[in-house]
Amino acid sequence: MSGLLDGQVALVTGAGGGIGQGIAARFAEEGAAVALHCRTAREAADRLAGRIREAGGRAVVLTADLTDEDACGRLVAEAAAWGGGLTALVNNAGVQPTRDLAAMTAADWRAVVDANLSGVFACTRAAAEAMRPAGGSVTHIASVEAARPAPLHAHYGASKAAVVAHARTAAQEYGPHGVRVNTVSPGLIHREGLAQAWPDGVARWRAATPLGRLGRPRDVGDACVFLASALASWITGHDLVVDGGVSARPGW
Ligand SMILES: NC(=O)c1ccc[n+]([C@@H]2O[C@H](COP(=O)([O-])OP(=O)(O)OC[C@H]3O[C@@H](n4cnc5c(N)ncnc54)[C@H](OP(=O)(O)O)[C@@H]3O)[C@@H](O)[C@H]2O)c1
Repeated sequence: MSGLLDGQVALVTGAGGGIGQGIAARFAEEGAAVALHCRTAREAADRLAGRIREAGGRAVVLTADLTDEDACGRLVAEAAAWGGGLTALVNNAGVQPTRDLAAMTAADWRAVVDANLSGVFACTRAAAEAMRPAGGSVTHIASVEAARPAPLHAHYGASKAAVVAHARTAAQEYGPHGVRVNTVSPGLIHREGLAQAWPDGVARWRAATPLGRLGRPRDVGDACVFLASALASWITGHDLVVDGGVSARPGW
């Protein structure tokens, strides 16, 4: 059976986490060889890599702290060496802490910007280099909060808005080298324990979503597969919102 990503070699960051697992699984199902990056969630990444191999696919697990610029370069080089090249990068890793502005320290701010933005910059630069001369795609996972910031998330929303802006600039600069750069902005994605941890938020999301449910990691994976595939060969600098239609409403 032919897949949308046959012959591709993809690196997915944060592939031990909820959404990263959905993205990596969908890439493998569509025929890509997948390098699953993790930092501490080695077990989850190993489990998914094992399932991909059992299903006849190719997968490897690589580790790096993406707040370290050199580690980002090494990660991309390892993925390309393993795959015999690199055609797709999904910058999914990120942190989502909450803190009100009055209590937020400069260290809180920097921790979010380092994890969510600086790693995206460093991985993308290394990947764009590794993708020469054949080209490829880079997809950043931003958030609906890039355009609709929420309370307690000033650092997070700002980092995600910057990720969207980075992609638009990168699309212009790397386009002539055949590298497309887009963002996917998810709405609220289901994870184990979320309804218990944030009942009010989950209830409001359900009520606000025309499609009647929270997102699933695979919904984000589907959007990333599309953007990495030949179906999106004339799409770059775009932000694809994947939120069940919530952003179509005036508020949630
Ligand atoms: N969940 C949502 O509803 C939602 C909505 C919109 C956007 N997003 C975005 O989607 C992405 C994935 O979120 P998620 O919900 O799947 O979160 P998650 O389960 O916490 O996964 C995020 C992963 O990022 C990795 N990570 C964080 N800081 C890192 C660092 N300094 N170096 C290397 N890896 C690092 C973590 O790796 P280790 O665990 O291996 O340490 C973690 O597995 C994030 O960018 C998030 O902002 C999420």
